[in-house]
Amino acid sequence: MAPAAGFRGGPVLGIETSCDETSAAVVDENGIRGLAIASQDAHAAFGGVVPEIAAREHIRSLDAMVRHAMREAEVDHADIAGVGVTAGPGLVGALLAGVNWAKAYAFARGLPLLGVHHMEGHLFGTALEHEGAQPPFIGLLVSGGHTLLLEARAWGRYRLLGQTRDDAAGEAFDKVARRLGLPYPGGPQIQRAAERSAAERSTAAGGAADGGAGRFRLPRPMLSRRDPPGDPAYYDMSFSGLKTAVARIAEQLEEEGVLADAVDDLAADFQEAVVDVLAEKTRRAVEQTGCRRVVLGGGVARNSRLREGLAERLGSSGELYAPSPRLATDNAAMIAAAARFRLARGERSSWSLNAEAALAFPGLA
Ligand code: KG4
Ligand code: ZN
Repeated sequence: MAPAAGFRGGPVLGIETSCDETSAAVVDENGIRGLAIASQDAHAAFGGVVPEIAAREHIRSLDAMVRHAMREAEVDHADIAGVGVTAGPGLVGALLAGVNWAKAYAFARGLPLLGVHHMEGHLFGTALEHEGAQPPFIGLLVSGGHTLLLEARAWGRYRLLGQTRDDAAGEAFDKVARRLGLPYPGGPQIQRAAERSAAERSTAAGGAADGGAGRFRLPRPMLSRRDPPGDPAYYDMSFSGLKTAVARIAEQLEEEGVLADAVDDLAADFQEAVVDVLAEKTRRAVEQTGCRRVVLGGGVARNSRLREGLAERLGSSGELYAPSPRLATDNAAMIAAAARFRLARGERSSWSLNAEAALAFPGLA
């Protein structure tokens, strides 16, 4: 098959279908021109994402998302100069829906194609909204599937500092929410419960109250030990033990018949423990690398207490760049932006581009 033409600059069409958001976007040198996101609500009844339903929903709504994004961007098929698509990591069936769509489109239109790493996309998502979110920076990526702390020396050149050794931060939010009887997706529910807890405390105290309720003693995994900066544990994280600690307390409260009354405070204390760990690991990275800028990305970046906690912990030694809720959640604008960068460098994916559930982060030194 003839290779696709080179990238001549101009609008890139982005496609994202790695999990339960179906999204298409048009991004050019001036930023986002069109963005459409359909959040699949078919999973709520199952308490989690059902991979086969996700794949079918993507196939059903991707075309409409592309039409919406292109209409908003006021571009025609002939204006599109390249195609970027999430190739991994994610649910393989869900990814394949987007990869196949993008391949067919790029092939039919003779356009260069680029497979994007979803988590690198999250970094570009924040950069789309903040001019200052440019390398060098410390990246904190927190989503349902990943928790990564890295140093971005340049776009495409990264050093992995730390990652979770078990559950991702978002996964812990979702699992704890489930244990507390809150609906899926759990992250926003935990945040709301924590806000109710804070509101109640501030009424009782006659003033503002944020952070945890301080009612339950929860561990701060991988913070307590005095690991030296050279030890991987200095930056690595773990959320599974924290999740289990919450489950144990919930079980006891249930036996005493008082869980329902304690859910908000328990959620607040859990959230505070996660924020504490993430903020401290990030502060360490800023201190050790001397890199002031911190770029936050991924679905958990929607958590306002996390943004607050990070800003507090960094103080004047860091500059925090956080995405708006729309760009924190999975979206195709970040994928188009990442693809634009790589296409402009002359990179191309071949027509045999495949979906990879566990795609390795690109450009790690
Ligand atoms: O990046 P994302 O949209 O999808 C993945 O790539 O995984 O992240 C989804 C995750 C879910 O675990 C969800 O519970 C979490 O982000 N999340 C939140 C909040 N909003 C979404 N976690 C905590 N607080 C929130 N407000
Ligand atoms: Zn994501």
